[in-house]
Amino acid sequence: HIQVTVVDLNEQRIIDWNDPNTDNIPIYEPGLSEIVLEARGRNLFFSTEVEKAIDEAQVIFISVNTPTKTYGKGKGMAADLKYIELCARQIAKVAKQNKIVVEKSTLPVRTAEAIKSILDNTGNGVQFQILSNPEFLAEGTAVTDLLNPDRILIGGDSTPEGEAAINALVDVYANWVNKDKILTTNVWSSELSKLTANAFLAQRISSINAMSELCEKTGADVNEVARAIGMDSRIGPKFLKASVGFGGSCFQKDILNLVYIAKSYGLNEVADYWEQVIIMNDHQKRRFSNKIVQTLYNTVADKKITFLGWAFKKDTNDTRESAAIYVADDLINEQAKISVYDPKVSRNKMMSDLDYLETRPAEENAKSLTTFGNVYDACRGSHAIAVLTEWDEFTTYDWQKIYESMHKPAFVFDGRNILNAKELQSIGFVYNGIGS
Ligand code: UDX
Repeated sequence: HIQVTVVDLNEQRIIDWNDPNTDNIPIYEPGLSEIVLEARGRNLFFSTEVEKAIDEAQVIFISVNTPTKTYGKGKGMAADLKYIELCARQIAKVAKQNKIVVEKSTLPVRTAEAIKSILDNTGNGVQFQILSNPEFLAEGTAVTDLLNPDRILIGGDSTPEGEAAINALVDVYANWVNKDKILTTNVWSSELSKLTANAFLAQRISSINAMSELCEKTGADVNEVARAIGMDSRIGPKFLKASVGFGGSCFQKDILNLVYIAKSYGLNEVADYWEQVIIMNDHQKRRFSNKIVQTLYNTVADKKITFLGWAFKKDTNDTRESAAIYVADDLINEQAKISVYDPKVSRNKMMSDLDYLETRPAEENAKSLTTFGNVYDACRGSHAIAVLTEWDEFTTYDWQKIYESMHKPAFVFDGRNILNAKELQSIGFVYNGIGS
């Protein structure tokens, strides 16, 4: 019974969301195309008529991106709030009735204040209530996370108007979420909780990745260590999978933002503490590419190295901050020839990821990276395989057939620890996992 209109200035994006074949919508996410198919045209609409949608809405979610700043003060660390501000100004210009404005984008603490100031000072005298409602869903499991969230967090003012706005949003979620899972807080607690949750999750990965390097030196096995510590109910088993490094649009950006905020308050120890999570993650990616070079007799020049996966995790076509990009960049510096198979990522996306780094001219990137539509072609004639994404299908291949088509010795660098090491070794592969 709630009408949802998604608006975007980008016309092509909206055309894609309105594609009659919902398998072609711009984001691949299990279960999403089915939901769009069911609801689109009934109570879900995609449109470029931004002003009309603002005018008609009672609640407006600002869900634009807040990338790390690439210029000026806070370059490389602070969140770029350009798009948030443009949204706020447009809402202020158009709104003729009171509205609830919800921050859905991840934002630095006290951003709501800035939004409120823009809305109150440039608007038409209407009342705005600003709520913070951070999104905790993870890619690849977005639909199930949304339908069964661990919690919903809503921050708002403790004035009567603020509380009324909070309750209005609680009522929306209460349609499918149990009320005891809906937390209400002040705006700043809510804003900071999102950064904190991502920092804690990323910290667990950097912690286990730090141990993975120590395991490799000492003969311990990081998977066994993770299992042993994860059974301590105080630690818990999730987010302890050692990997080639975390990627995605959130962890690095949010931690850099947290570090920037801490520094701006003069909290240098706090800033340094969290920055170490990023330093460890960068080290882990570089360590993986170094290991490939060292193992292949200190040279990969003109050797074919096959990447299984380019996405930052399985079940998504998102590649933002994917470890694959940085590992490929390092290996191309060493003049390797990279061939990639990813079930969902297009060649164009891979090329634009590499070109974005500006390490070398685009033509050189194009010559150094070849893509394949299936794993067997991608591996034929290669010296080594590197697993960069944990796609389930990688565990189901005919590895004997792959082995026979490769240069010998044939190496596997399992950056996700998903393959069966014993089986691969018995076929003849030289297997290298993370942390064992
Ligand atoms: C994350 C948060 O989980 C989510 O709550 C928030 O809303 C957005 O950021 P997302 O980036 O989509 O979600 O994916 P996530 O599952 O958290 O994985 C992030 C990265 O960490 C991936 O590259 C993943 O492969 C890696 N990872 C995750 C590990 O290397 N080891 C693990 O044990 C878990």
